[in-house]
Amino acid sequence: MSSTFGSLFRVTTFGESHCKGVGAIVDGVPARMQLTEADIQPQLDRRRPGQSNLTTPRKESDQVTILSGTENGVTLGTPIGLFVPNKDQRPKDYSEMQNIPRPSHADFTYQMKYGVRASSGGGRSSARETIGRVAAGAIAEKLLREHYGIEIVAWVSTVGSVLEASVDIDRVTREQVDATIVRCADSAVADDMMDAISKAKDAMDSVGGIVSCVCRDVPAGWGEPVFDKLEAKLAQAMMSLPATKGFEVGSGFAGTRMRGSEHNDPFVRKDDRLGSSTNRSGGIQGGIINGEPVVFRVAFKPPATIGLSQDTADFDGNDVQLKAKGRHDPCVVPRAVPIVETMAALVLADMALRQQRHGL
Ligand SMILES: Cc1cc2nc3c(=O)[nH]c(=O)nc-3n(C[C@H](O)[C@H](O)[C@H](O)COP(=O)(O)O)c2cc1C
Repeated sequence: MSSTFGSLFRVTTFGESHCKGVGAIVDGVPARMQLTEADIQPQLDRRRPGQSNLTTPRKESDQVTILSGTENGVTLGTPIGLFVPNKDQRPKDYSEMQNIPRPSHADFTYQMKYGVRASSGGGRSSARETIGRVAAGAIAEKLLREHYGIEIVAWVSTVGSVLEASVDIDRVTREQVDATIVRCADSAVADDMMDAISKAKDAMDSVGGIVSCVCRDVPAGWGEPVFDKLEAKLAQAMMSLPATKGFEVGSGFAGTRMRGSEHNDPFVRKDDRLGSSTNRSGGIQGGIINGEPVVFRVAFKPPATIGLSQDTADFDGNDVQLKAKGRHDPCVVPRAVPIVETMAALVLADMALRQQRHGL
């Protein structure tokens, strides 16, 4: 099992949904950076469950403790240990599902791979694993913001079949995104999104959605062709998140319906640099940042655990009906927003450190 991501800014996450806690070891954070829990907690607060009636009611405050790697609020250049305790486990909710793998969850595949699995809460496949990534990514964000002026903002751009949000990628802020509990910066569609999630929840069902993300002011030249092209690392980062089913950068799949003459991004002078008048490339060409905003989208499926009765089979092959118990997200995208941002930050922080080898 690979629980480590990154080559120079390297993160290893640990923990299962119902063990004592979750967290990360972050290696490669430069020395002499100001860093306390207060730098990390805001993104964990945006990720945590129970923030609104659109998310799982599991009650977790998700307070992070820095175990190592800093002294007097300054990084030492040594591995940073981050820990968040699990508090509100209810293993009983899973007792009926001991012998019934949840359709489209990871119970069956973990059992096939290891011959054993965490007895409740989805173990390592649970979204609680992402706490370690978010905590580590918050450190990466701070590095990117303070040393390079990079801004990363994600938002919910679709829920189910609700019309896509229209967002100004040059200006959208986290404050605008957080203005609604669904985390959509377009007030014209936010109500419909919240309604779609509430309706799925009331029907004891679930619904999917897309998170879009922009990374602004990333220096041209970052990215490591050919196997570590920037879009390849972003795709890996995003597709390693639970419940993801698709990734596109720039024009993405829609670009296939255009001709080259419509799709090309013409070069233009922009202040003191060469830019492009359109950005269908999503800020990346040849796996390297071109100086335009990096824009990508991540598709999340409807969560698998639903209270509605489903026909399925138990591990012995007997037909059964499953009505899942427990507290679950009817839609993951509002909580996925900070997870996508911090994963993007982990990719970019690693690229920043790798770029130093090229003499910048
Ligand atoms: C923020 C977030 C919250 C999630 N909450 C749930 C949940 O409440 N119930 C559920 O079945 N899956 C939830 N998931 C997704 C599962 O963890 C995931 O679908 C499962 O591990 C199977 O992995 P896969 O979908 O990547 O194949 C969540 C995912 C994210 C990103």
